[in-house]
Amino acid sequence: MEKLTGLKKTKTAVFISGTGSNLKNLIKFSKIKEAPISIDLIISNTSLAKGLRFADSFKIKKKVFDFGNLKIAEKKIYSLLKKERINFICLAGFMKVLSEEFIKKFDGKIINIHPSLLPRHKGLNTHSRAIKKKDRFAGCTVHYVTATLDSGKKILQSKIKISVKDNPDTLAKKVLKLEHKLYPAAIMKIFS
Ligand code: GRF
Repeated sequence: MEKLTGLKKTKTAVFISGTGSNLKNLIKFSKIKEAPISIDLIISNTSLAKGLRFADSFKIKKKVFDFGNLKIAEKKIYSLLKKERINFICLAGFMKVLSEEFIKKFDGKIINIHPSLLPRHKGLNTHSRAIKKKDRFAGCTVHYVTATLDSGKKILQSKIKISVKDNPDTLAKKVLKLEHKLYPAAIMKIFS
């Protein structure tokens, strides 16, 4: 694997499963002069991912893979990543867990954004769990991806106070706004 620094932008793939607001935000970020990455490929595990539309609007290559068999899916994804000379991967609302074998091939070059203050609330439904537990703060974390879910080394974290008026939806909206600032900041940090 190439080193992550240099004059040229690092070719990056974004993996999604849903709306793709983080994807859109990363594409916009990648277009600024100072950004160290270019988004060259969008991968999804489902053709229903709304975020796939950004591939068309920003003219970025996209590909949907069937994860019915993880090993086969990862093998196909790996070949495509090699073919497209992708050297960095951002998971953004990607709902599949990648195998250790795949992650090792991109060691230290796969990052994820998670909508909680990790290590608190790994996994799903983070906002309702934070409210139920009467947490004072919510937030988001960008971290390296390892084979254990939401457990890799933290890169950056951002937090906000939970208001008594918050419900999981209002909190999700607030945290998503933070996510859109945090993800580019974490990428800048990695490549600085
Ligand atoms: C974000 O909250 C992300 O942290 C989580 O899933 C959500 C995806 O949102 N993993 P979007 O698809 O980027 O809009």
